[in-house]
Amino acid sequence: MQTQNLLVTGVSGHYGRLAATHLVESHPAGWRGTTTLIGTTRTPSQARDLARRGVDVRPADFDQPSGLNDAFAGADRLLLTSTAAEYAGARRVQQHRHAIAAARNAGVGHIVYASFMASADSPLAALAADHVATEQALRAAGIGHTVLRHAFYMEMVLATARRAIASGVLRTLNAHAGVAYVARADCALAGACALRADIGASGAFVDITGPQAVTPIMLARAIHACLGIEIKVDEVSEDVLRTSLVAGGLPDPVAGMLVYLERGMAQGAMQAVSADFRRLTGREPGGVEAFLMQHREALAPNH
Ligand SMILES: NC(=O)c1ccc[n+]([C@@H]2O[C@H](COP(=O)([O-])OP(=O)(O)OC[C@H]3O[C@@H](n4cnc5c(N)ncnc54)[C@H](OP(=O)(O)O)[C@@H]3O)[C@@H](O)[C@H]2O)c1
Repeated sequence: MQTQNLLVTGVSGHYGRLAATHLVESHPAGWRGTTTLIGTTRTPSQARDLARRGVDVRPADFDQPSGLNDAFAGADRLLLTSTAAEYAGARRVQQHRHAIAAARNAGVGHIVYASFMASADSPLAALAADHVATEQALRAAGIGHTVLRHAFYMEMVLATARRAIASGVLRTLNAHAGVAYVARADCALAGACALRADIGASGAFVDITGPQAVTPIMLARAIHACLGIEIKVDEVSEDVLRTSLVAGGLPDPVAGMLVYLERGMAQGAMQAVSADFRRLTGREPGGVEAFLMQHREALAPNH
């Protein structure tokens, strides 16, 4: 049987590490058989545990394209983790282009790209721009690819829940606008599954969402169900929301960004729920109550 070399980029980050771990754990006999796993990262020292589990950990920095050909050598299929949001804009698109070019040079046959659900015509288009540009670069490269379009990570509700728990009030622009949050661990499982097996034609889009669109009202109920804490949901204007976020200790630019996200969510930009996760992984994505239960201690240590 032919050996297949799978590669996950960014294995020191949360998503890349989780995806690599899913792959290791779905091959309990280790990576000495017909499949090998390569993990790339800027900081191999932070992935020693994966190396001990048989992953071929290699250095790679998408800002340093000259090193990428060696990093990707021998890979058949590659899971491209989008680089950190702090590089959003031209730099991040360039990082992704370097990775795609190196993958083509290395003879990679298929790239799975961890993208974002909003499209170019969404109210959250500014967040999607780097991903749309990367998807274009994938098409232009002529490599087989799959695009996993992630909804907002469910980890985002933790900060909202913490603020609501601290004040007893969940302030929002639209109490009835749902968001199909999906746990980062579920995104990583989907990435691992898509890396392992071909799923449909090249260029396929796969929408990775949670099981339901969670409205602020539902989130308040979930907090009550998990922690027994009553939360009032208040619909407020953008100005009031921004002022309250700043009063809660956030720097004004961060508050401005959160208001931008809220505006998009209030317009329903992130509400679509997809069954693609189930089709791809054979599992149900985790819901918000189970997620809050998992993070119970961190949210309200005294409850
Ligand atoms: N859908 C959403 O709601 C949502 C939310 C947050 C983030 N995201 C996106 O999902 C990605 C993964 O999320 P996360 O939570 O795992 O983020 P994270 O823990 O901050 O990880 C950042 C990732 O970016 C990689 N990276 C940064 N600079 C790089 C460079 N120069 N060359 C190569 N890789 C580089 C890191 O790889 P190494 O450190 O291993 O080199 C790491 O995998 C993020 O980077 C972001 O694009 C999506």
